[in-house]
Amino acid sequence: MIDTEVAELIGREEERQKETITLIPSENYASAAVREAVGSVLSNKYAEGYPGRRYYQGNGIIDEIENLAIERTKRLFGVPHANVQPYSGSPANAAVLLALVGPGEKVMGMKLAAGGHLTHGHSVSFSGRFFPAVQYDVDENGLVDYGEMEKMALVEKPKLLVVGATAYPRIFDWQRVGEIGNKTGAYILADISHIAGLVAAGEHPSPVPFVDVVMTTTHKTLRGPRGAVLLVTEKGLAKDADLAKKIDKAVFPGMQGGPHENVVAGIAMAMAEAATPEFRQYAKQVVKNARELAAGLMKLGYKITTGGTDNHLMLIDLVDKGLTGKEAAVALEEAGIVTNANAIPHDPNPPLKPSGLRVGTPAVTTRGMKEPEMKLIAELMERALRGEKEQVRAEVKKLGMKFPVPG
Ligand SMILES: Cc1ncc(COP(=O)(O)O)c(C=O)c1O
Repeated sequence: MIDTEVAELIGREEERQKETITLIPSENYASAAVREAVGSVLSNKYAEGYPGRRYYQGNGIIDEIENLAIERTKRLFGVPHANVQPYSGSPANAAVLLALVGPGEKVMGMKLAAGGHLTHGHSVSFSGRFFPAVQYDVDENGLVDYGEMEKMALVEKPKLLVVGATAYPRIFDWQRVGEIGNKTGAYILADISHIAGLVAAGEHPSPVPFVDVVMTTTHKTLRGPRGAVLLVTEKGLAKDADLAKKIDKAVFPGMQGGPHENVVAGIAMAMAEAATPEFRQYAKQVVKNARELAAGLMKLGYKITTGGTDNHLMLIDLVDKGLTGKEAAVALEEAGIVTNANAIPHDPNPPLKPSGLRVGTPAVTTRGMKEPEMKLIAELMERALRGEKEQVRAEVKKLGMKFPVPG
């Protein structure tokens, strides 16, 4: 059967991606090789279990693929154990909770409004509905307050402390986080979904020496397929010799059934790509570009929370512009610049009408853009927000053609 309807929609989405500029910091362009693996015959195979311990026959080659993904992941992040089966970041975090937090035991994570993720204990998520959750905030400057984190952890005694974020523009102090773990006895989960590519390339400190478990999605700065991995550290194994077994058991059979081995093959490729000098150069440029974009926006009168960025993203505070984040995001999309509305720390507006815009540089950097283009993008954003949408859209299209989407 030839399905022209879906083919046409995919074609239109491809055009949209080519003609617009993606500043959503959690998005990226996976390589053609990764996309080929994801669309391969591996998607036909059921492989419940782990390499050498499958519930279905015919998994000899699948075992080799999964072992390759595991070995490359362990090498890239320097950990003794990796599980590459989580379907995505949310189920991976669910597996950690299932593995380490018993009924009635507490989980502690960063507030969504401060930049944390839903799965870190927010009330609408399983993590806040089925577990008593406590949430830490950022200080008046938008920065993590490790002293407050420690105080809360000592009082609340969480079984699991989650550190990591979906909208935080600064470096995490993993050593300090590790000390809090030592003092309180909590397991520490570092959720590096956003910054994994920077960590792999040495552009953000690694949490591995200081925490027990690390989770990352594989499709953001890491530039792989949509998926996630769970890493168990030496420190984690020293604290709990069964930690790796607990995590594996929680992923399968605790949370999931058959792993998506087509994605696992894509993860194996992405881990190899991320170990190259080209990728390290890419990650360095992601950070440089974010700094340049933040500087450009500030020069044009935009307020950036925390006064800038150390990583791949920034939050634009629109309160004094008389615009909500959603209004700004819609105006920018009309001009071909794709972003997302986001709460800013201590947002005066309700969650459905946040006052900020979250923007980042992983995708534009993959397209080869550098500092001069960041300066230009800041100016295009300013003009689009002033209402000059048609002209900006044409210029964005031209820029997109000069820096084509890879693959
Ligand atoms: C920090 C963090 N953790 C977890 C997730 C969840 O990942 P996914 O969207 O793949 O479920 C995300 C992505 O939104 C994230 O940013």
